[in-house]
Amino acid sequence: DRTYVVTGTASGIGQAVARRLLAAGAQVHGLDRKPPTAELTSHTEVDLADPSSIDAAVAALPVGDVDGLINVAGIPGTAPGDQVFAVNALAVRHLTGALVGRIRRGGSVVVVSSIAGAMWPARLEQIRAVLATASFADGARWFAENPQEGNAYTFSKEVATVYALSMAVPLVEHGIRINAVMPGPVETPILPDFEASMGKDVLDGVRALLGRHAQPEDIADAVLLCVGDDARWVNGTALVVDGGLTGGVLSGVV
Ligand code: NAI
Repeated sequence: DRTYVVTGTASGIGQAVARRLLAAGAQVHGLDRKPPTAELTSHTEVDLADPSSIDAAVAALPVGDVDGLINVAGIPGTAPGDQVFAVNALAVRHLTGALVGRIRRGGSVVVVSSIAGAMWPARLEQIRAVLATASFADGARWFAENPQEGNAYTFSKEVATVYALSMAVPLVEHGIRINAVMPGPVETPILPDFEASMGKDVLDGVRALLGRHAQPEDIADAVLLCVGDDARWVNGTALVVDGGLTGGVLSGVV
């Protein structure tokens, strides 16, 4: 059986990923601050905003080697900026670093980022500076001392995306791939938070343009593609899963 560690399994996209993996016969060890709604192989409580909680959860995982780590958990930009940055960016790096030695060759890591992080090339210098910090605490300190323009959510997703891209070559020697998945709007409990920060009319416009928002399963299936053997040569990429929004509209082609 394939075995995966998945964060954010109590809700939304993480819950859908867990369901799809379980349906495919895999074992799913969930990490979340809330209990899962469906039965997983195991659930370990964690606060991803706190590196010592992440370390404790990793130590408590009732499994040795695994086939993959899927970082899904995240919080929207309506939460305090330091928390958003900690959970969406620093926790992804910390948890991946803590588990990478337990991922079997042929396995992979996925980081669920967002199309909100698509503009990372414009901020590469700052992103490099964050990723050059040696620890979660140093990264948090860097963020506190270097206020970024706009929403902390956007910057957190830029960092998460570039982290995935930047780790691809270093992980080659471990036989592990790493990719980011960048969803557009998804019908989950945090969609109203995005409506609050971006404007409901903006998101209603997106839905009108595409016919619907994504369902969590639309994103989960793309995640499963990334961890599966069919994606064996897909590495260090950011897969946009947004129903066409970025390609057609945000890129300015139409
Ligand atoms: P959700 O709110 O339904 O699920 C997020 C899960 O993460 C929850 O189970 C929550 O308990 C967990 N979590 C949050 N903070 C945590 C912490 N400090 N420690 C442990 N667990 C924590 O949200 P959704 O929509 O499923 O989001 C999943 C990921 O997808 C996030 O990273 C989000 O930024 C990203 N995303 C979501 C989009 C959307 O429109 N819903 C669009 C693009 C990206």
